[in-house]
Amino acid sequence: MQVISISSLKGGVGKTSITLGLASAAWAAGISTLVIDLDPHADTTTGLGIKHDAPSTDIGTMLRKPKQYRVAEHAVPSGWMETEQDGEQAGTLHVIRGSAKTSLFEKVTTRRKEINRLATLLESLEAYELVLIDCPPALNGVTRMAWAASTDVLLVAEPSLFSVAGTERTFRALDLFQREYAPKLKNTAVVVNRVRAASTEHKYRLAEMRRMFGNRMLEAQIPETSNWQQIQGAAWPVHAWPGDTAATAAKTFDELLKGLYEPVVPPRRARRS
Ligand SMILES: Nc1ncnc2c1ncn2[C@@H]1O[C@H](COP(=O)(O)OP(=O)(O)OP(=O)(O)O)[C@@H](O)[C@H]1O
Ligand SMILES: [Mg+2]
Repeated sequence: MQVISISSLKGGVGKTSITLGLASAAWAAGISTLVIDLDPHADTTTGLGIKHDAPSTDIGTMLRKPKQYRVAEHAVPSGWMETEQDGEQAGTLHVIRGSAKTSLFEKVTTRRKEINRLATLLESLEAYELVLIDCPPALNGVTRMAWAASTDVLLVAEPSLFSVAGTERTFRALDLFQREYAPKLKNTAVVVNRVRAASTEHKYRLAEMRRMFGNRMLEAQIPETSNWQQIQGAAWPVHAWPGDTAATAAKTFDELLKGLYEPVVPPRRARRS
């Protein structure tokens, strides 16, 4: 099972948007996916069409006693599952609801038991091919719990001076953390969001990032999308939204997912001699 955390030190760069875009691509591709909303702000929960008073256990409550909960039993279907994709039902997309209770775990600690709370919670989880975790905008205890439970960390950056510098510092923190606390973590990469192809400043920053991050910078870049807020506000998957602008964004999320997701190939049956 692949577990991808979507993270950044800087706020508002598009973590939730990337999480929702990847969830939409996975949903359209029929990959069975669980989204965990680890940000106390819980925007992903809203974007996936889950009511905040839904009768389901939120992630903050489960993190308090990670050995007592079986996560799969508390996952709720995203409202997106009622949407049809080209007249067909798309894949399974479930959500673990976010809540303000997660903020109780913001304090940074070096105690492994604390850092591993989410990893412990996910130990028994087998029902999904992919897990996406939306993180808060900080390198706090919550984000570190996500990293320790992940196989992949995807940093989100914008093509701007402060975002590039912040991403460089986040990679350094991530590398240190990976060595000490995250044995499952295999891939760390950065995706650039809100790219305007015609902008000279963006071209300059993209070239700078390529030099700085090398092959850790993913090929797929997410364009600035004029109706993105409208799509998110409607709690709708970008893959089902009409029009060319949404279709272009959906295609880049397909490419992004392709660059990240490694399907588990079932082992070939041993030949009988
Ligand atoms: N590619 C895009 N095109 C247009 N608007 C975008 C794009 N990505 C994000 N936005 C908008 O930018 C705002 C911030 O995005 P988002 O909430 O995804 O960031 P975030 O990193 O999750 O923020 P936070 O740090 O507060 O959790 C939102 O209003 C969102 O609609
Ligand atoms: Mg967010």
